[in-house]
Amino acid sequence: MRTLDDLDVKGRRVLVRADLNVPLDGETITDDGRIRASVPTIKTLVDRGAQVVVCAHLGRPKGKVDQKYSLKPVAVRLGQLLGQDVAFAADVVGESARSTVESLQEGQVALLENLRFEPGEESKDDTVRGEFARKLAELAELYVGDGFGAVHRKHASVYDVPKLLPHAAGGLVVAEVEVLRKLTESPERPYVVVLGGAKVSDKLGVIANLLTKVDRLLIGGGMAYTFLKAQGHEVGRSLLQSDQLDQVRGFLNEAAQRGVDLVLPVDVLAAVTFASDAEHDVVDATAIPADREGLDIGPKTRELFASKLADARTVFWNGPMGVFEFDAFSGGTRAVAEALVASDAFTVVGGGDSAAAVRRLELPEDGFSHISTGGGASLEYLEGKALPGLAALED
Ligand code: 3PG
Ligand code: MG
Repeated sequence: MRTLDDLDVKGRRVLVRADLNVPLDGETITDDGRIRASVPTIKTLVDRGAQVVVCAHLGRPKGKVDQKYSLKPVAVRLGQLLGQDVAFAADVVGESARSTVESLQEGQVALLENLRFEPGEESKDDTVRGEFARKLAELAELYVGDGFGAVHRKHASVYDVPKLLPHAAGGLVVAEVEVLRKLTESPERPYVVVLGGAKVSDKLGVIANLLTKVDRLLIGGGMAYTFLKAQGHEVGRSLLQSDQLDQVRGFLNEAAQRGVDLVLPVDVLAAVTFASDAEHDVVDATAIPADREGLDIGPKTRELFASKLADARTVFWNGPMGVFEFDAFSGGTRAVAEALVASDAFTVVGGGDSAAAVRRLELPEDGFSHISTGGGASLEYLEGKALPGLAALED
């Protein structure tokens, strides 16, 4: 993959595909991690005298303009972090975008409006996507792919534009890929993966692949209840994907055959309802009352998971252990995060909710070897899938 050092950017207009998909509460950015992670590449281009045109998506507006998903607040935050103004274009490839990029001087930065306001960005029709990609490419002379969190998407800005312009990978993409390569090629053992989050259906591919690679697989969060049910336990009103029970039984069998230590919760916090102040008790994972739902792993499980992590040499963690947004049910996620911080293993937090949890629970970010910006992207990489955005950069 070519890097920034392979591009001569001085005095040239460079389109940077970043991942600035941050959580918003109204117009307030509640976690600016992805914006911060995008700054170094943009700063490098600024320092080298490029005219920097940043493009990105926010949320899933599905091809329609919806001000709720405007990148305007992101332009303001990016400007603060860069310490310079970021011009904001009110459209993606229209009049505003064209005049905004034309007025850029060397070292100046502009941000285009949300790519996903344009139906061409995500279109499955190669011609429609290609047409939009051509308009985007016309805004610049060079392309830098730095939106790691979106490299698993076959979208115009990720997959098609690099075919139209001389291109390179930005520093964030290079760093993320280096970490993932380390996890897949020769992880030091024991290699332990911790998976959580609501749905097992989102992680079928990655579980299947990890069972051939890891020494231990610890499962918590909402998806654990489908595993407990597959073992024949009642899970009350906990999250359950009944249509995945056969798959999950298959995973349990395969783990046993391969000698992978697949570790499930032994106790849970069982609540009377899904609420931050819900009345709850610690119960055995094999005895969840019919009218309760599990919202976090219990204290014995936290200890068990910590002990399974204690001698690890490599750890990948994706997905919270419980409803960490509610303080009362954040203890399991905190316990896993703390076990990683305490460990001197190579520890990787895989994007999305787990990265948000690390910041929300105010854990030291430097206590981890790497906190990824890409949830879905890192899972698909570990699944062994070809990522369209990386393939396009390698060409
Ligand atoms: C993410 O938030 O995982 C990335 O920004 C990609 O967003 P998407 O899942 O909506 O494609
Ligand atoms: Mg550590």
